[in-house]
Amino acid sequence: MAKIIGGVASTHVPAIGKAIADRKQNDPYWKPFFSGFDYVHDWLAREKADVAVVFYNDHGLNFFLDKLPTFAVGAAKEYRNEDEGWGIPVSRAVAGDPDLSWHLINALVADEFDITVCQDMLVDHAVTIPLTLMWPGQAWPIRIVPVSINTVQHPLPSIARCLKLGRSVGRALESYPHDSRVLVIGTGGLSHQLDGERAGFINKAFDKLCMDAIVNDPDALTRYSIPELVELAGAQGVELLNWVAMRGALTGAVTQAHRNYHIPISNTAAATMVLDNQPMAQRRAA
Ligand SMILES: [Fe+2]
Repeated sequence: MAKIIGGVASTHVPAIGKAIADRKQNDPYWKPFFSGFDYVHDWLAREKADVAVVFYNDHGLNFFLDKLPTFAVGAAKEYRNEDEGWGIPVSRAVAGDPDLSWHLINALVADEFDITVCQDMLVDHAVTIPLTLMWPGQAWPIRIVPVSINTVQHPLPSIARCLKLGRSVGRALESYPHDSRVLVIGTGGLSHQLDGERAGFINKAFDKLCMDAIVNDPDALTRYSIPELVELAGAQGVELLNWVAMRGALTGAVTQAHRNYHIPISNTAAATMVLDNQPMAQRRAA
């Protein structure tokens, strides 16, 4: 059976891609952020994931405001990136895992999630930048199943709904009849606002509250409505929804293995987390 090995949460700011292209990882501005991935690299080398479920939000590359599903799941053999206009290089394609995709799709629909199924899907910087941060300078040694959550056009799904989505994915992963080692990734955030009177808004105290809750008590976050989340985390800080879904998919005993938090990266509170997931079946056997 598949094993959910853990979760990684990462910021996905486009400027990171430009910094990588310009080899600025050791510049004083960037080093505190990039060095936060040293632990992630060691953890990934040790854990050897076969496939990753990636919760992220599309920024207009695959979906636009004319057609923007609340939840979309990829079912393609590979996922291409294209020029998004951020001045960052176009990334290589990412391998898909259609068999796992359809397993998750069937489980989500059976669980009454009305998802959009994408057999052809572009993935933007919200997927490619975290993958590049996690496996720098090498071919990505994993397949992915991308799960897109609308964090762009209101009404957005609630925090509770995204937690349930993640938990449904987690249950489906537990029943996947292949010996895959599955990593769950959530990208985006943390607090930031790119426009309006509060442009540049960052809320360090709320970010810490969210990271603590992601580890120990994700249900505590469901008390916040989407308008409250916008107020506390910023208009684009709602990308926290991707982190919440990631956490929901970790169905075992979850512990924090690593956390890095750095302000700012391009007006964003940049955060990285690694969560270990000890499957319940293993815990019972121990
Ligand atoms: Fe974003």
